[in-house]
Amino acid sequence: MKKAILLGVAIIVAALLAIWGPDLLDLYRLQNYVETSNHAAEVDGGPWPRLTDVCASCHGAQGKSQNQNYPSLAGQSALYITTQLKNFSSGSRSNPYMSPMANTLSDADIKLLADYFAKQHPENNTTYTPDPSAREKGKKLVENGACVGCHGAQLMGHDGFPRLAGQGFDYLLSQLNNFADGKRSEPTGVMKSIASAASPEDRKAIASYLASLAIDKK
Ligand code: HEC
Ligand code: HEC
Repeated sequence: MKKAILLGVAIIVAALLAIWGPDLLDLYRLQNYVETSNHAAEVDGGPWPRLTDVCASCHGAQGKSQNQNYPSLAGQSALYITTQLKNFSSGSRSNPYMSPMANTLSDADIKLLADYFAKQHPENNTTYTPDPSAREKGKKLVENGACVGCHGAQLMGHDGFPRLAGQGFDYLLSQLNNFADGKRSEPTGVMKSIASAASPEDRKAIASYLASLAIDKK
């Protein structure tokens, strides 16, 4: 990251030299600019250029996704985010966008990203409108399935267990299907048993309930 800043500064210096010549180069102001940018970066999400900006195009500003296909990252635990980025990079979880990207991330990048998204406050999924009868069916399946036992009270997630409340509908459905088909797995195999025991209609109902479940702001 420091290297990227230095490179950025070198490019700015070269550009200033090329345009105005050495006489007009105000090194003091340039240094001041760099310090101010560094300060702004420390306040929100690490050094400039910000790695988290790359994620925003799909996962939304501060990881609050506005798209049902892209998971919201805000408030997921740092452990869960780290595990998933490492899974994408090792190939044990696969996705055409995430796998190549995760491969380019160093351990330090992953730590910075995981800490950043874990700190953000998730918001209700207001861009999804559930079908009332599917939602009701999903609520019963989730209550009978004891999902809170692992995914936490109000399904807000903790440690290695992701938050499900307010997550994108299409994303949740695709993950339940992936667990059922064996395209995604986790060490205990519990999610495979749960997802494959549910019919495709049940999975839709579950995703519908979870996507529309309000975030517990406590
Ligand atoms: C081009 C779009 C795109 C960009 C850019 C992107 N992602 Fe993703 N990300 C996705 C998609 C799609 C998924 C869902 C993958 C799946 O279906 O398994 C995902 C999944 C994830 C997950 C797993 C979420 C979960 O609940 O299990 C994490 C963590 C993640 N991305 C982190 C990041 C980070 C950090 C960045 C920035 C460095 C980033 N992503 C940039 C599209 C993107
Ligand atoms: C024994 C613990 C356990 C129980 C019970 C459990 N889960 Fe999970 N679930 C997990 C773990 C662990 C993961 C993360 C797997 C990984 O690391 O890839 C997960 C992941 C998920 C995901 C993917 C979320 C994401 O962001 O990608 C969904 C959806 C999900 N569970 C739904 C459910 C539902 C619905 C129930 C109840 C019917 C349930 N789970 C019960 C342990 C559990």
